[in-house]
Amino acid sequence: MVCLGNICRSPVAEGVMRDVARQHNISVTVDSAGTANYHVGDQPDKRSMTNAKKNGVDISSLRGRQFCIDDFEDFDRIYVMDENNLKNVLALAKKEEHRQKVNMLLNELHPGKNMPVPDPYYGTDKDFEQVFQLAHKACTAIAEKLKKERNE
Ligand code: 4NP
Repeated sequence: MVCLGNICRSPVAEGVMRDVARQHNISVTVDSAGTANYHVGDQPDKRSMTNAKKNGVDISSLRGRQFCIDDFEDFDRIYVMDENNLKNVLALAKKEEHRQKVNMLLNELHPGKNMPVPDPYYGTDKDFEQVFQLAHKACTAIAEKLKKERNE
């Protein structure tokens, strides 16, 4: 799960994906990263932690890291939150195989539409709740798809 700072959106998506995978009884390795390095080592934004907690997901142990080229090898799917993240991640891809792994998170709900999970950094509590709900819907779609693919 990739956003710009790895403190607002992608840690929520990481926590939600883990939680939803557990509920669907599927085994996945989930991580998150930011395209920028401003918040490496930082805990998620307080507003993201509070909102996730309110929805039953604890993301307080997560720490920011920057997306790196190894991630293309280490993960099967790379979900980005918006088109800037998409551009920045694709700029690091050196092979078609790696480019193929990258998709907008909400394309799992609205294929090909490239709809963003809007950046809530300068927003309100409502914007953080929207991030959680969008991540929850998309991660549920991912879990259901993986379950089918694996015939579980
Ligand atoms: P995120 O949000 O990409 O969802 O983690 C942001 C976090 C930090 C900044 C911008 C967006 N920033 O400018 O520091």
